[in-house]
Amino acid sequence: MKITKCLFPVAGYGTRFLPATKSMPKEMLPIVNKPLVQYGVEEAIAAGMTTCAMVTGRGKRAIADHFDISYELEHQISGSGKEVYLQSIRNVLDKGVFTMVRQREMKGLGHAILTGQSLIGNEPFGVLLSDDLCLNDGPGVLSQMAELFKQFRCSIVAIQEVPHAEVGSYGVIAGESLRDGIYRVDQMVEKPDPKDAPSNLAIIGRYILTPDIFDIIRETPPGANGEIQLTDALQIQAKRGCVMAYKFKGRRFDCGSVPGFVEATNYVYEHYYAKS
Ligand code: G1P
Repeated sequence: MKITKCLFPVAGYGTRFLPATKSMPKEMLPIVNKPLVQYGVEEAIAAGMTTCAMVTGRGKRAIADHFDISYELEHQISGSGKEVYLQSIRNVLDKGVFTMVRQREMKGLGHAILTGQSLIGNEPFGVLLSDDLCLNDGPGVLSQMAELFKQFRCSIVAIQEVPHAEVGSYGVIAGESLRDGIYRVDQMVEKPDPKDAPSNLAIIGRYILTPDIFDIIRETPPGANGEIQLTDALQIQAKRGCVMAYKFKGRRFDCGSVPGFVEATNYVYEHYYAKS
């Protein structure tokens, strides 16, 4: 079964980037000259997930405008030497379909995913958290995971080893290593105290989820920070059936933090922009 949809939870506030994010969505902050969320959308489309389902909220209209034609701009720039600057977004608009639903209350990632159910329906789907920018020269992380899904047919989370002291910022997994970089998950904890963490394998913002997750989230009580956590729902799914964890190939930048954002900016400038 081919995965054709990807959910983008983009309703969060971006408080760490205030005042820049006071009236601008954090997902629109640029890494060099491209908004963060466009990197994510390009990754999803490259993986064949051409329906990009955005769970937005108040103050996020710029995202909907970005993934639409700007008629005036097209008209102004058409035939001029500046057309090249529109090429990447035109490519995205040619291939992608964008659907939106608004999350009215901020009740956690699990709640955001459940809000997106009407855009997904009853099929497996990708989830991409655009704060986690993942770059590599081969197939993107979602492409790698979609390939793996063909084999396992169950939910998959992307993971990365992080310093033990930092596990409290992540969902953390433990499980049986099946082969290099692939684990069958038996434990998942959201934002554990480092002394209780089952490992230092942290979940990064890429998931493939099977649609039974929606009913599970509906039954999942609030967890860490009083929010409905996707990690808690996945733990139930792992106990009932199967969840895999995958150490992806590529480099990840935590663009939800200022140092990670700056690091990503320098990296993209040096490796892509300056060479183009
Ligand atoms: C979310 C997830 C967490 C995951 C992280 C990856 O947390 O809840 O399990 O490790 O994304 O970036 P957040 O960063 O939204 O607090």
